[in-house]
Amino acid sequence: MHRNALRRLAPACLAAAAALAIGGGASAQTAAGGKIKVGFMLPYTGTYAALGNAIENGFKLYVQEQGGKLGGREIEYFKVDDESDPAKAPENAAKLIKRDQVDVVVGTVHSGVQMGLVKVAKENNTLLIIPNAGVDEATGPLCGANIFRSSFSNWQPGYAMGHVLAERGLKKVVTLTWKYAAGEQSVKGFKEAFESKGGKVVKEMSLPFPNVEFQALITEVAALKPDAVFVFFAGGGAVKFVKDWAAAGLKDKIPLYASGFLTDGTLEAQGAAAQGLETTLHYADGLGSARDKTFRLAYAKTFKLQPDVYAVQGYDAAQMLSAGTGAVKGDMSRKAELYKAIEAARIDSPRGAFTLSKAHNPVQDFYLRKVDGRENKVSGVAVKSLADPGRGCRL
Ligand code: BEZ
Repeated sequence: MHRNALRRLAPACLAAAAALAIGGGASAQTAAGGKIKVGFMLPYTGTYAALGNAIENGFKLYVQEQGGKLGGREIEYFKVDDESDPAKAPENAAKLIKRDQVDVVVGTVHSGVQMGLVKVAKENNTLLIIPNAGVDEATGPLCGANIFRSSFSNWQPGYAMGHVLAERGLKKVVTLTWKYAAGEQSVKGFKEAFESKGGKVVKEMSLPFPNVEFQALITEVAALKPDAVFVFFAGGGAVKFVKDWAAAGLKDKIPLYASGFLTDGTLEAQGAAAQGLETTLHYADGLGSARDKTFRLAYAKTFKLQPDVYAVQGYDAAQMLSAGTGAVKGDMSRKAELYKAIEAARIDSPRGAFTLSKAHNPVQDFYLRKVDGRENKVSGVAVKSLADPGRGCRL
């Protein structure tokens, strides 16, 4: 390009042209110390909308507590509503990774959407921190050096509840869930623990996500007269299920157990129908640690809302990013070092400190909780330091 023509270009274009000329594109800018670009790919509409908002809030709270900077660099946010729609996942992931050239994607909530996002992140070697979706494959056969999770694998909370019910001597359980990876893999984890200790899952029932026409299924469960029912539902669907279960008169007839998503972030809407329900999860109300109390106070003050497990997972996703960016002093082009630092981090989470497994999934305690008023009160530890087996991961 002629010198005079270059002078006529706007300064921003000059910077971009210079970056391309040295062959670096986004990474040259990354190393030079502009803002770190964080892309949220989360559901902001539909049955999981509240979950997406809580994750974003939690993430931003941690960044705010660090003075708005990680690794010495300010943060710029980009957002895509993934609508919990797996069919749109590749296109939505590309919006953040290709169009916006983000340094890290924080996403997502729905296991089916997660499969598409993991694929695009791996193809582009973009750092991905999963702040909820439990799809086992992400820290199993599809694991990757750049793929991390701040939440759980679907197997984990199900396994914890299977262990609890077997210990209680229950024998005959029916399962009910949405028919997609989160529900199916929760049931698989439940079954693995429950049946290895002498229990039997006598029937596995399901309905398509995000369908909430539970009535016929509830009637069928009642007719089977099991010792108990284990379910996976979350978000808006969980509210409806718990209310329908109570309205059918089964609340005091057939014991209902679940992974904690059934009652997390939902108690205000579920009201009396949820009282006394027992669930297993990696977070609970009333943990009582100084770390948790500080977090809860700050969250409530900032957002005028009580935090839930999703807020904690968002907060910890930011802590994981902070561990990585701190190690490379904000230079996001030093990818191998960035990933190593996240992998080795000990995260001081409100849930209790955790480290990551070889496949990059939290190794963490699973609490037994019981609904009391507006709280999922901790009643004990169901399984301590539970690690997902990471089957099929080669790292
Ligand atoms: C999932 O799809 O992985 C999921 C969604 C909501 C809560 C828990 C898991």
